[in-house]
Amino acid sequence: MSDFWLDLGFRANPYAVRALAPTADGRRLLVGRDDELAALTKRVRNSDLHPVLEGQNGVGKTSLVAVAAYVMSQDFKEGRSQQLFLPLGEPLQMKDDGSELIRDVYFAIAQAFIAHHDDLRAAGRRVPRVDDLETWLNAPTYRSSKGGGVSTPLGGGYATTGTGLNTGSAFTDSGFQTMLRRALQEAFPGNSGGFVGTLDNLELLDTSSSARRVLEEIRDPVLQLPGLRWVLCGARGIARSLANTPRLNGVLADPVDLLPVERRYIESLIDARVHVFSVDESGRANTPVNADGFGYIYDVSNENLRDTFGYAQDFALDHDPAFFLDSSPAEIENSLMAWVDNLAEKSARDVRLQGRMWRLLEDLATAGGTAAPGDHDAYGFNDRTHMRKNVVELERFDLAISSRDEVDGRRRSISLTSKGWLVHFAKKRDLLGQGALDLSMTNESPEV
Ligand SMILES: Nc1ncnc2c1ncn2[C@@H]1O[C@H](COP(=O)(O)OP(=O)(O)O)[C@@H](O)[C@H]1O
Ligand SMILES: [Mg+2]
Repeated sequence: MSDFWLDLGFRANPYAVRALAPTADGRRLLVGRDDELAALTKRVRNSDLHPVLEGQNGVGKTSLVAVAAYVMSQDFKEGRSQQLFLPLGEPLQMKDDGSELIRDVYFAIAQAFIAHHDDLRAAGRRVPRVDDLETWLNAPTYRSSKGGGVSTPLGGGYATTGTGLNTGSAFTDSGFQTMLRRALQEAFPGNSGGFVGTLDNLELLDTSSSARRVLEEIRDPVLQLPGLRWVLCGARGIARSLANTPRLNGVLADPVDLLPVERRYIESLIDARVHVFSVDESGRANTPVNADGFGYIYDVSNENLRDTFGYAQDFALDHDPAFFLDSSPAEIENSLMAWVDNLAEKSARDVRLQGRMWRLLEDLATAGGTAAPGDHDAYGFNDRTHMRKNVVELERFDLAISSRDEVDGRRRSISLTSKGWLVHFAKKRDLLGQGALDLSMTNESPEV
């Protein structure tokens, strides 16, 4: 078995879908975000409200925060700033169980003190002894359920799942928390910096009321900790929906919408990937998907960077390296377009929708892929219930996702999925089998 990427001149997969890491490479790979980066770091440095990012899945939220934390750590190291901000570690995934989330947070803080111990010491900051932290982390209550002891954030990949702590009850109010709170205060007195952490994927909480409940629960133990700046990230309107929660007033900043990376940056996006991942520093590797091809699938995926990278690597891996070494750019691009057609056709093959639901899919796509339950009029439904019934049908085929029992009718909680966009593309390109087409013409739904 040969090494596919190496044969093309890459030291690793240049189309990896994981979020960018808080590293020099992460900084080089982030394109088209200069303004957003400047605005976010300014916020973190100069406000005591935690920034909130709202943006569709795969738009680059997690990456932006990671790189912002890295940039701030470099600003201190290189003397541009007196404030010492350091990445907390891997993003923390939002979860329904507030006390489990609190455990994750304190675990992450302890790991961050271990990972950044030397940097903090070098900066003349007071830090807890690594031995003490490890003793705490290895105590039975905090032991990872995977049987592990301490694993520093420097170890594993950035985009792995959170640490699986067991749910020992003593943790939430333990001396460990008190110790860490004091350590944070001592390491980052006054406004002298802190760890920058990500509370990621707020939309995992599904409804805005459960998000509100968990955030209120973690307000004091997590959001009010000294020496910690959080950036909250969410999709499908959940962040915006939280903005008016009275009890989170004075804790969270107004949400900022993160828009898709603009098309004009795709050339530099591919350049950066090639340079960072080329074996040869000059960036001479053979790119299976160049800027034109990337732009093509970026459109198909509705500007979802994660999906675009995913398609790019799947397309590449469906071929032999020789194909990319021996073919012209035009040949490769034709092959990519045929490959996308095939993928879209396959995704659409098992989809059986009535005419009314096809129209809803098209209308959602035209509107940019998201809708609020309260938008039923604009979509031609009499009320929320009728719209909901049709949305549920789209969900049955994995074409859309929406929140259960969302009370906030204005939240854009309905969203097309990756598959929804592919099927939309298949329909637009007229790639669907006769069966689906027949259904769409003859079976007008009564659910209007
Ligand atoms: N500004 C950017 N420039 C280049 N690649 C990016 C940028 N932002 C995100 N990416 C890449 O896009 C994909 C999705 O990014 P991610 O941060 O995980 O999105 P989100 O958190 O919004 O779902 C990842 O592969 C990441 O490396
Ligand atoms: Mg993310």
